[in-house]
Formats: sequence, C-alpha cells, structure tokens
Amino acid sequence: MRAAIVGCGSIAHVHAAAIGELPGITLAAAADIRPERAEEFQQRYGCAAYSSLTEMLAREELDVLHICTPHYLHVPMLCYGLEHGVHVFSEKPPVISREQLRELQSLKSGKRFGFCFQNRYNPSIRAAKELLASGLAGKVLGARGIVTWSRDAAYYTDSGWRGRLETEGGGALINQSIHTLDLLVYLLGKPLAVEATMQNHHLKGSIEVEDTMEAFIRFADGKHALFYASTAYCDNVPPLIEVSCEHLTIRIEDQALTYLYRDGHSEQPELPQAKALGKNYWGSGHKRCIEDFYQAIAENRSFPQDLPGTLDTICLMLGSYESARTRNEIDLLDTYGL
Ligand SMILES: NC(=O)c1ccc[n+]([C@@H]2O[C@H](COP(=O)([O-])OP(=O)(O)OC[C@H]3O[C@@H](n4cnc5c(N)ncnc54)[C@H](O)[C@@H]3O)[C@@H](O)[C@H]2O)c1
Repeated sequence: MRAAIVGCGSIAHVHAAAIGELPGITLAAAADIRPERAEEFQQRYGCAAYSSLTEMLAREELDVLHICTPHYLHVPMLCYGLEHGVHVFSEKPPVISREQLRELQSLKSGKRFGFCFQNRYNPSIRAAKELLASGLAGKVLGARGIVTWSRDAAYYTDSGWRGRLETEGGGALINQSIHTLDLLVYLLGKPLAVEATMQNHHLKGSIEVEDTMEAFIRFADGKHALFYASTAYCDNVPPLIEVSCEHLTIRIEDQALTYLYRDGHSEQPELPQAKALGKNYWGSGHKRCIEDFYQAIAENRSFPQDLPGTLDTICLMLGSYESARTRNEIDLLDTYGL
C-alpha cells in the first residue's frame, strides 16, 4: 500500500518511522505548507515532497493519508482525503467542536478513517483490560487519571497554532491528556455525565486555552472517575491511571503495571516492553496502532479506533469543555445522544 503524510512536524516523524517498519507499506509522499519540512522528509525517507495536500492528492496514487497537521485541520483534511478516494488515519483529537463531530457523523464513504489513540496498545493497558474482562478483579468501584506535564510559553507561541482556541480547540485536555481520558473510557465503559472546571494558571496572557482541567465523570452502575490534567508542572512524569476494583487496585504508570491487593501485597506482572519511536511520553503504541489500521483495511474488518470506537471519548471531551464553560454538569446521553 502507498501511504502519504500531510503535516511534516514533530509527530509525522513517528508515523514515517512506523510506516518504514511495516512490510508492504511505502511512504510515497509528504506535504507541508512549509516546503522545507516536506523536503526534509523527501531526503530522510525517500518520498516525494509537496507544499499542499491538494497537489499531493492530485498527483499521487495513494491508498492511505496520514493527517499530522494542527487540530483544526483534521476534519477538513479527513473529508478531503475520503472525497479523493483514500483511507485516512488521523492524529488526535478527532474533532475540535460539536460541528466538526456532526460533519464526521454525516460522512458517507467507501473508504475508512480512524484515529491515533496509540496508548490503547500499550502492554500495560492491554493487560489491565484483559484482567477487567476476566472478572478476576471483581466489580469496578471507580478510577482516577492524572496527567502532570510541563509546557512553557514558547511551546505554544513558537508553533503558530497551539494555545489558540480557533486552531488548537483547547489546551491540556484536548492536546496533552486526551489519551488518559480515552483510557479511562476504554477501561471503564460508557461515560454518562461530566462536571468539569478549567484554569489557565501559569500562562496568563500567553495562551487562550486551559493549562489545567479537572473533571468528575459518572459512569454506569454508580461508579465515577476523577480526572486531573495540567501542563503547569515542572516535569513530564508518566500519567497515572488507577482502577479501583473489589479485589485489587490496578495502577498503570505508562508502561508500568502494578496490582495492589486488598491484603497489602502487590505484584508487577511482566510485560513485553516496546521502544518508543518518538518522545517517551508519546508512548510506544504508534507502530501497533498504525499497523492495526492497515491490517483492518487488508482484512476488511473494522478498526477499533474508528468513529464508533472513539465516540464516547469525543463526547466526554466536548462535554468536559461544555461543562467547564457553562459551570453545569453535562448529561452526555441527552447532549450528544450517546
Ligand atoms: N498521538 C500522540 O501522542 C501525539 C503526539 C504529538 C502530537 N500529536 C498530534 O499530531 C498533530 C501535529 O502535532 P505536532 O506536534 O507534530 O505539530 P507541529 O506543529 O510540529 O507539526 C504540524 C505540521 O503541520 C504543518 N501544516 C500546518 N498547516 C498545514 C496545511 N494546511 N497543509 C499542510 N501542512 C500544514 C505545519 O507546517 C507543521 O509542519 C496534532 O494534532 C497533535 O495533537 C499526537
């Protein structure tokens, strides 16, 4: 299959490296409005270089388009790719607004699209998911997810798109901690309601978006999760996810998994360790996630991170912003018809 990437910034190198490791997939082309970035891809990965998506899709015979551009461009580029007959694999977030979600929901295409929620492929998450499904942990009582990372003003201002609502759509939640929110949903099931607050503590005057978001999320059976994400910390430490169950607590810190039993003893199951292709805090799941997308196409089966497979996360993210803006609890079933 012939692949192409639009947006040749930081994360695009991880996609290119993953494609390079997958047999039968060739990176045929890359496009960026900054031509020097597409040319760097040409030199490094031996692909054709373009300065626009339009030109690339007009000139190349492609099977899959990878979208690695700023948030506000994901939906328009995804729609454009499908209209031009290619499957589309998009970076997160899937949407930045409810209008964009409606646009995705109304799409009719013979081609597939899916999103990069690569942390679902982490061995620690896989093992936790299997343990919960086995019933051995007992009833799930609740969970918490905590992300504390460090982003300074230059990270936002130098990018040209981060830190602005119109182009990033939000801050700490939609960008840095959407994976942790997604993993809470992946492990706990359908979220029903959310009450959230957001702040900009440390970059007032530099960014329009939140540097900190906290949320109280209600799930079925009366259980709830606490969520806290901030980019105002002094370091990038592994996100923490804990699922408290009847017989034990499952603690996940990136690749590390610990079972904390009620009698006080704990164990760390041995897990296969995979090398991250990019920064450690992006995790090591990109290759497995991208490979799964291509395999889903080849095997004509659904890709787990398609729209139905990520809709709960999308609505929880949109609902959290809505709640933080309006200071109301948002009923996700009523508001988004989940
Ligand atoms: N899955 C993950 O863990 C992960 C990690 C990092 C980034 N991301 C996501 O990847 C995306 C890109 O992030 P990044 O950090 O690489 O950003 P970046 O700013 O480094 O790269 C974006 C690139 O898109 C290009 N671009 C902008 N408008 C364009 C257009 N109209 N046509 C073609 N190219 C255009 C820019 O010139 C830039 O080179 C974001 O959605 C981000 O949230 C995901």
